Amino acid sequence: MLNIVIFGAPGSGKGTQSARIVEKYGLDHISTGDVLRGEIAAGTELGKTAQQIIDKGNLIPDELMISILASRLDNLVDSNGVIFDGFPRTIAQAEALKVMLAERGQDVTAMIELDVPEDELMDRLLKRGQLSGRADDNEETIKKRLVVYAEQTSPLKEWYKNDGKHCYINGLGELDRIFADIVAAIDSKM
Ligand code: AP5
Ligand code: MG
Repeated sequence: MLNIVIFGAPGSGKGTQSARIVEKYGLDHISTGDVLRGEIAAGTELGKTAQQIIDKGNLIPDELMISILASRLDNLVDSNGVIFDGFPRTIAQAEALKVMLAERGQDVTAMIELDVPEDELMDRLLKRGQLSGRADDNEETIKKRLVVYAEQTSPLKEWYKNDGKHCYINGLGELDRIFADIVAAIDSKM
């Protein structure tokens, strides 16, 4: 079982590189942002709650997010492992993931941190906002997402260093070079 956490600020390339990792290693992809946007599109109660939080650039409460993740994991069939994209985002979520995987006799294999400077993140997300119309890709919400990342999510770098799983990747530049660096990092932890 190969379980990869892809980690980084909003716009760092988690979704983009996840698609390549899925293809190379045959993993299941769980993107908590995609799960929540699916609930919003379907108009569910969860979607209504999530939309208000996402539009402000805040995080969904840990308890709710952890239960969503657990049910996604339970629904996997014949899995070779998972790439976790956008989860964990807090220490509480990282601890919960460790327990959930341990209950299945597994662990995180590698945590891949994509490091990208803030001015580049802002550029990428404003461009995507114009193209895709993602509601949280506007300047005010992006700024809030970056603050939330710095305060609540970036401490996970230390957490995963202490757990021996952290791999640093320079996320600025060509997609192929970044992917090659990711593959080398994953293979070094297998
Ligand atoms: P989520 O959907 O996870 O959004 P995010 O973390 O803000 O990240 P993005 O999806 O915007 O960026 P990405 O890193 O995937 O980059 P991408 O590959 O798209 O979460 C959204 C919201 O949901 C959160 O704010 C929160 O409210 C809630 N949520 C989700 N998970 C949660 C959790 N666990 N707990 C609590 N709340 C949660 O790339 C971005 C753009 O850049 C694209 O246009 C891409 O084409 C381009 N690009 C990618 N790589 C490069 C490159 N190397 N050079 C140039 N451009 C590039
Ligand atoms: Mg994404």
